[in-house]
Amino acid sequence: MNILLLGSGGREHAIAWKLKQSYRLDQLFLAPGNAGTAALGTNLNIKATDFEGIKAAVIEHHIDMVVVGPEEPLVRGIADFFREDEYLTNIPVIGPDKQGAQLEGSKDFSKRFMQRHNIPTARYKSVTADTISEGTEFMKQLNPPYVLKADGLAAGKGVLIISDYAEACQELNNMLGGKFGAAGNTVVIEEFLSGIECSVFVLTDGEHYQILPEAKDYKRIGEGDTGLNTGGMGAVSPVSFATPEFMQKVEQRIIQPTIEGLRAEGIVYKGFIFFGLINVENNPYVIEYNARMGDPETEVVMLRLKSDLVDLFEGVAQGNLERKHVEVDSRSAVTVMLVSGGYPGDYEKGKIITGLDQVSDSVVFHAGTAVNGQEIVTAGGRVIAVSSYGTNKDEALTTSFANSQKINFEGKYFRKDIGFDL
Ligand code: AMP
Ligand code: GLY
Repeated sequence: MNILLLGSGGREHAIAWKLKQSYRLDQLFLAPGNAGTAALGTNLNIKATDFEGIKAAVIEHHIDMVVVGPEEPLVRGIADFFREDEYLTNIPVIGPDKQGAQLEGSKDFSKRFMQRHNIPTARYKSVTADTISEGTEFMKQLNPPYVLKADGLAAGKGVLIISDYAEACQELNNMLGGKFGAAGNTVVIEEFLSGIECSVFVLTDGEHYQILPEAKDYKRIGEGDTGLNTGGMGAVSPVSFATPEFMQKVEQRIIQPTIEGLRAEGIVYKGFIFFGLINVENNPYVIEYNARMGDPETEVVMLRLKSDLVDLFEGVAQGNLERKHVEVDSRSAVTVMLVSGGYPGDYEKGKIITGLDQVSDSVVFHAGTAVNGQEIVTAGGRVIAVSSYGTNKDEALTTSFANSQKINFEGKYFRKDIGFDL
């Protein structure tokens, strides 16, 4: 089978690495991919949101399945585009259609969905510029800090957590006034939940589901979870507090009602669901849904997934996922992200990366790299995800940290405390 994988980050390199292990795979194409994926398949110079370009590539390369890495093509309706095109209609897309992707694409949609299906989540109110006073009144009923979320996609930057009531009212005004563009035309105001977060991933064919290994990511730039939010500085799997008892609650209270809710509402959902959860006194609550895998969580989930990923994707496409099995490696897996100096603020690209050939016992996933002549150079804020196994997380971390020292580029930074809170 020929597969086209959309995206260009560490998540896509990790998925490509896993797909490549399948005897079912013939040719792998990526659009657009990165310097790491070039070693596993053919990178095509097509953006993941260029639907017409993707269509031409699917026809030219006899693609049998399309796997969508990032959220943007999903929210823009790539699955609908395939379904409605006479040449593409029989080619399965791993990823939900536009309506299903609203679980991620609209926080207001996802909150209403959770409310309809009694899925535990923080209390909330959605407001627009016309109903701003309802928002400021609602905040008076909450204890600080106040959580303000832009409804639409905002590249992970649309959430503000503010302690002071007056400041929260001001920020609410700013958001509704265009601080995050159209994504903030509606703002979801939420009660703050106090607990520890983890990510749970499910693959579904719309009727059945399989649970993948859980993970915890580290979003802040600074050690001890301080400083600005990033795309993710590292991840760990398994997560110690995700015990069988906790995961049973997650399945019964969250996963099952989500799958059943989607079905009951006639939403075609074939792909990954990422449950961003918070553990409040051993009870799971949904912080957010995503319509895709997490990054850098995928860089540890793929390490621990022993089952054939092409086979699982076929189960999604054919609607018989219940016949497949998810086998999980009992070892720990971690990933440590090497990032560009200055990230998540301004940073320079094009720095030569050295030492990749010195790495031993880790799997190196490229997150933001490019080929420049004979060199591999930095091409993003997050550059390389150094991923390792261990009999426990500390052993895995020791390996990743040692290899993180061997890889070099000007301005390299990484957090040395991944997993510190587990
Ligand atoms: P989101 O984009 O919805 O995942 O929010 C980004 C981050 O904000 C989450 O990973 C949490 O750390 C935090 N957050 C979001 N909503 C809440 C909430 N209701 N209570 C506490 N923290 C939250
Ligand atoms: N690591 C969080 C995300 O992918 O959204």
